[in-house]
Amino acid sequence: MVIETENLTKYYGNKIGCRDITISVGKGEIFGFLGPNGAGKSTFIKMLVGLLFPTSGKAFVLGKPVGDVDVRKKIGYLPENFKYQDWMTGEDLLSFHASLYKLDKKNAAAKMEEVLDIVKLKGHERYRIGTYSKGMQQRIGLACALLPDPDLLFLDEPTSALDPVGRKEVRDIMTKLRSMGKTVLLNSHLLSEVEIVCDSAVIINKGSVIKRGKMEDILESKLILEIHAEDLNSEVLNKLRDFDPGLTYSNNMINMEIKDKDATHHIASIIINGGGKLFELSPRRVSLENVFINLVEGGEQR
Ligand SMILES: Nc1ncnc2c1ncn2[C@@H]1O[C@H](COP(=O)(O)OP(=O)(O)OP(=O)(O)O)[C@@H](O)[C@H]1O
Ligand SMILES: [Mg+2]
Repeated sequence: MVIETENLTKYYGNKIGCRDITISVGKGEIFGFLGPNGAGKSTFIKMLVGLLFPTSGKAFVLGKPVGDVDVRKKIGYLPENFKYQDWMTGEDLLSFHASLYKLDKKNAAAKMEEVLDIVKLKGHERYRIGTYSKGMQQRIGLACALLPDPDLLFLDEPTSALDPVGRKEVRDIMTKLRSMGKTVLLNSHLLSEVEIVCDSAVIINKGSVIKRGKMEDILESKLILEIHAEDLNSEVLNKLRDFDPGLTYSNNMINMEIKDKDATHHIASIIINGGGKLFELSPRRVSLENVFINLVEGGEQR
């Protein structure tokens, strides 16, 4: 496993940063760490990169306890809300980071070329960062994080300030990194982002994990079924309530939740065999946004 944590917990005095976070992330995964503002996402990442000491719990990164010096050389970190000096050029910034990583001159020049290529900023490196768009600024930040050729990248809300085009550009970089065998831990409150790009995720709220799993399991844990049907008698409706006691029925429209796709043809045959007229039956996946809002509002714990 590339990241393994066990009950990782951080208190700031009496205040919870995050509590009992247990995750494992495999090589080549894009793992989503999803939660609303103040949920504890940045706290968690900062512990894994060695910027904060955990209050309790365990954490291993690339097989070693967090803070290990050799491991630090193999990880890249893009902090949230970073701001570079406007007067620096992209090249200045990369050179500065290369010196922090102690890359020798020749190696640094080659690496800078390589990372500029990955983040699609070749040709822009001689311009001042103050002239870059927000998307370009995020990408130059990513380029810095990529300089040490890390096996693992921690990205703290890399797309929050970007427009849809900028987001897609960063997403494309993440999938490219995955195809290069790198592992990415992505902090985000942007549900659509996590839905599109991540393989697995945890959802956290108020410092604790409230949902976890492969992306498709998180999303497919519920399906909404919309049915347009007429002439439904109470016997048919009662049978449908066995699938979802909370279904709603008005203006010849049924709206219900089902657990898996297989239920749809059973439901269709119940309606037809019961003498109903079935006009339309459409299952749709609950969006991550709905899953998230239900969990966060309901305060569900796991
Ligand atoms: N240095 C600190 N001192 C005290 N409390 C802190 C500190 N840093 C974070 N917190 C608190 O810890 C909790 C988690 O904060 P954190 O920044 O980890 O959340 P987050 O999920 O990254 O939020 P955001 O989406 O706003 O970036 C919040 O209640 C926050 O107020
Ligand atoms: Mg944060």
